[in-house]
Amino acid sequence: MPPSIPHLLLLHFHLLAIASLVGIAGWSRAWAIGVNWGTASSHPLPPPKVVELLKSNNVSRVKLSDADPDVLRSLSGSGIAVTVGIPNLMLRTLNSSKKAAESWVHDNVTRYFPAGGPRVRIEYIAVGDEPFLLSHGDQFYPFVLGAATQIQAALTKANLGSKVKVVVPCSFDAFQSESNLPSEGHFRPDINKTMIQLLTFLSEHRLPFFASISPFLSLHQSKNISLDFALFKGTARTHNDSHRIYKNSFDLSYDTLVTALYSAGFPQMEIVVAQIGWPTDGAANATSVIAEEFMKALINHIHSKTGTPLRPQNPPSEVYILSLLDEDQRSTSAGNFERHWGVFTFDGQAKYHIDLGQGSRKLWNAQNVKYLSSRWCVVNNNADLSNVTASVLDACSVADCTAVSPGGSCYNIGWPRNVSYAFNSYYQQHDQRVNSCYFGGLGLITTVDPSTDTCRFAVGLQTSHSSILVLPQLLLMSSLFATISMGFVFLI
Ligand SMILES: *[C@@H]1O[C@H](CO)[C@@H](O)[C@H](O)[C@H]1NC(C)=O
Ligand SMILES: *[C@@H]1O[C@H](CO)[C@@H](O)[C@H](O)[C@H]1NC(C)=O
Ligand SMILES: *[C@@H]1O[C@H](CO)[C@@H](O)[C@H](O)[C@H]1NC(C)=O
Ligand SMILES: *[C@@H]1O[C@H](CO)[C@@H](O)[C@H](O)[C@H]1NC(C)=O
Ligand SMILES: *[C@@H]1O[C@H](CO)[C@@H](O)[C@H](O)[C@H]1NC(C)=O
Ligand SMILES: *[C@@H]1O[C@H](CO)[C@@H](O)[C@H](O)[C@H]1NC(C)=O
Ligand SMILES: *[C@@H]1O[C@H](CO)[C@@H](O)[C@H](O)[C@H]1NC(C)=O
Ligand SMILES: *[C@@H]1O[C@H](CO)[C@@H](O)[C@H](O)[C@H]1NC(C)=O
Ligand SMILES: *[C@@H]1O[C@H](CO)[C@@H](O)[C@H](O)[C@H]1NC(C)=O
Repeated sequence: MPPSIPHLLLLHFHLLAIASLVGIAGWSRAWAIGVNWGTASSHPLPPPKVVELLKSNNVSRVKLSDADPDVLRSLSGSGIAVTVGIPNLMLRTLNSSKKAAESWVHDNVTRYFPAGGPRVRIEYIAVGDEPFLLSHGDQFYPFVLGAATQIQAALTKANLGSKVKVVVPCSFDAFQSESNLPSEGHFRPDINKTMIQLLTFLSEHRLPFFASISPFLSLHQSKNISLDFALFKGTARTHNDSHRIYKNSFDLSYDTLVTALYSAGFPQMEIVVAQIGWPTDGAANATSVIAEEFMKALINHIHSKTGTPLRPQNPPSEVYILSLLDEDQRSTSAGNFERHWGVFTFDGQAKYHIDLGQGSRKLWNAQNVKYLSSRWCVVNNNADLSNVTASVLDACSVADCTAVSPGGSCYNIGWPRNVSYAFNSYYQQHDQRVNSCYFGGLGLITTVDPSTDTCRFAVGLQTSHSSILVLPQLLLMSSLFATISMGFVFLI
């Protein structure tokens, strides 16, 4: 009997998995750079496309913010090392219920380690998503240690204790130094006690400390550093910390953490940089040119293995770039730049070129991306726009208007083009449904791209969800409508 098609496929899959494991084994040890892959997007790039993007750029490690089954299935057999995340909202339950921790591990970890099958190379479980962030107050951190302990016990019970490590991602504001000098670094007083308990747990289990470092936010919050200092420039004014000379913001923050760990009693604690990046929109100094400069210098610094003044020859063992892709649903409470951390745009196009593992060649973009139709929603210039502000506020309350805000790439396009920007963002987010470009009769659908050199009016991505919604009648209606509206546009 000839092998059935599924068998052939499976065989093919195995060969691929082996090939990629062999391919990756050659360089993963030396390569410490990974990326954060978040999914706070209204129209995310399909996970298999993202995994293709990671592979074509030789990215060897990813950190996820949750444990989305579609994402994990796509990573299966890829050989890419994975950190899965537990959302903050689950910490309370996990702290108090052994059963909940066991089912979390069963559902989200154990099942990706099938006997004999292609596996997801899960290396870490991140308990909480920066639960110590100052703006969260004490909502989450009191449950962190309990949750981490329960997850560790559940892993041991599932015989995964030696394969998967438990970590807690720590925000950049968990440690500080009032003088901005690393030698005065300490953990924030309100979390000091919990932090020492957590460090005791990590140390007992030989687990690393995951922390975010943010030269961009240090600059943004003007912590007495210059742009040149953030960008590792040789010309930057150095900071002198009693005979230790700091030449860049990264080393300064890193050593502030080293001192905080030292004063908490854990001088040897291994550090993993869980998030570090530079946004490209939504704030002053957030541009692709500056981001490229920062990332290149950072990667060179990590590769040089020079370490920092307090830990020479002992650089961070791993560094995760924030972020792989832009995400239009990230909270903007810290600033509009939050939605623009991606090295790639939301649709997988490189904004600039850095070495993520692929060496000196340029980054590959995502291939064969499926977009919605080439249609945009703009404001009808011929209408009475005296009340348009209300419609804009409506649109921007759900859509992503961060690029038209002060400091954004579209801030200077002027009125009423910025109204069009808001309308279009809303329209794409609603899968180009005709009624999402109504705005009390002020919206018009056009096939003429309103983008300018510096301001991109995006067309949304097709998702499984959007293709289901577009019924044939609706398609017909919308193309009719588009033709009519184009007529209007051309009349103007
Ligand atoms: C965490 O769970 C333990 C055990 O159930 C409980 O004693 C403790 O009060 C919980 N912690 C918090 C902060 O609720
Ligand atoms: C597995 O993880 C997902 C995503 O984080 C979560 O929604 C789900 O509740 C988890 N499963 C269990 C049993 O907790
Ligand atoms: C944190 O706790 C340690 C140990 O109890 C103590 O030595 C240190 O002074 C505390 N630091 C702060 C900032 O409260
Ligand atoms: C950031 O950008 C603004 C506006 O372009 C500029 O004036 C400022 O000097 C920059 N900040 C730093 C710290 O260089
Ligand atoms: C700011 O940094 C400079 C450069 O190291 C230093 O001389 C100065 O004392 C710092 N000022 C404050 C307020 O920290
Ligand atoms: C740094 O500061 C110390 C005093 O704290 C001083 O002796 C030393 O000369 C300074 N080094 C430089 C390069 O400014
Ligand atoms: C990237 O991966 C491909 C395919 O696995 C391999 O041929 C290539 O040598 C790798 N490039 C680098 C710089 O490691
Ligand atoms: C604008 O809003 C006011 C108050 O709701 C209303 O009276 C007026 O007719 C509106 N103008 C237009 C052009 O829609
Ligand atoms: C558009 O520009 C006008 C004039 O500069 C401004 O008042 C308005 O707030 C802007 N709207 C948006 C959505 O940015």
